Amino acid sequence: MSLLTVRDLKVSYGGIEALKGISFDVDEKKIVTLIGANGAGKSTTLRAISGLVPIKAGAITFEGRDITSLDTSQIVAQGVVLVPEGRRVFPNLTVLENLKIGAYLRRDQAEIKKATEYVFERFPRLEERHWQMAGTLSGGEQQMLAVGRALMARPRLLMMDEPSLGLAPLVVRDIFTIIHRLSEEGMTILLIEQNANAALRAADTAYVMETGRITMTGTGEELLNNQAIRDAYLGTKRVRKPKVPDAADTTASPTTQSIPATDPSA
Ligand SMILES: Nc1ncnc2c1ncn2[C@@H]1O[C@H](COP(=O)(O)OP(=O)(O)O)[C@@H](O)[C@H]1O
Ligand SMILES: [Mg+2]
Repeated sequence: MSLLTVRDLKVSYGGIEALKGISFDVDEKKIVTLIGANGAGKSTTLRAISGLVPIKAGAITFEGRDITSLDTSQIVAQGVVLVPEGRRVFPNLTVLENLKIGAYLRRDQAEIKKATEYVFERFPRLEERHWQMAGTLSGGEQQMLAVGRALMARPRLLMMDEPSLGLAPLVVRDIFTIIHRLSEEGMTILLIEQNANAALRAADTAYVMETGRITMTGTGEELLNNQAIRDAYLGTKRVRKPKVPDAADTTASPTTQSIPATDPSA
């Protein structure tokens, strides 16, 4: 069943159309990813769903209800929560204080305590460091905190804007482990990534965005195996040192050699 539907969504910044009428669905309990180059409109899509940028045309429904014209806190109250790009934790507040901000719509102290326990159970690291100033956490820990803060609102749809950006490979793996665990527990996830490889491997459904349009869709696996996607987004054109450089080539830098994507060993 479709939890979120986006239909013919258009967003402009000044005179520039960043979204030129995009439509897609996010089914319940699935991981859906939007991939695409820098500037394609991925962040704008999530910001529009969250009510953070004005919508010029189109409709967004969540659980069958029209949320197109709701404001951000009403959208959060419906259960649609964004982990923004760049982590954006409050550096001069503690981990616990940052988490409590994520529960800003809740008045009930018992509910807040339950939400905190829910987050600490999934991120033991945050519990260990609950007293620490968020600005002194590592990049990976700050990303965990940003996710934890979103979870404090007990979302039904968790939207994540490039959670792996700028993180070391091992930390990226931890982030994707969390994404999988949340998904297994029944969370619906809309993930946007420039790290198309990791995103497609995680995704049930994927959409490719190019300059404000959706140009392709399929399962994560289908897009991983699609040659055009591999060439454009997955860096399959490997650069490597030739085994036996021929005489004419000895002056060429080995790192500038590219192997076509059709190379059987690629
Ligand atoms: N606040 C803004 N003001 C003006 N243009 C913007 C703003 N935010 C994004 N854009 C433009 O909208 C387009 C889509 O940007 P964005 O949604 O951030 O792409 P992505 O997240 O895929 O990298 C880009 O051309 C970008 O320059
Ligand atoms: Mg972006």
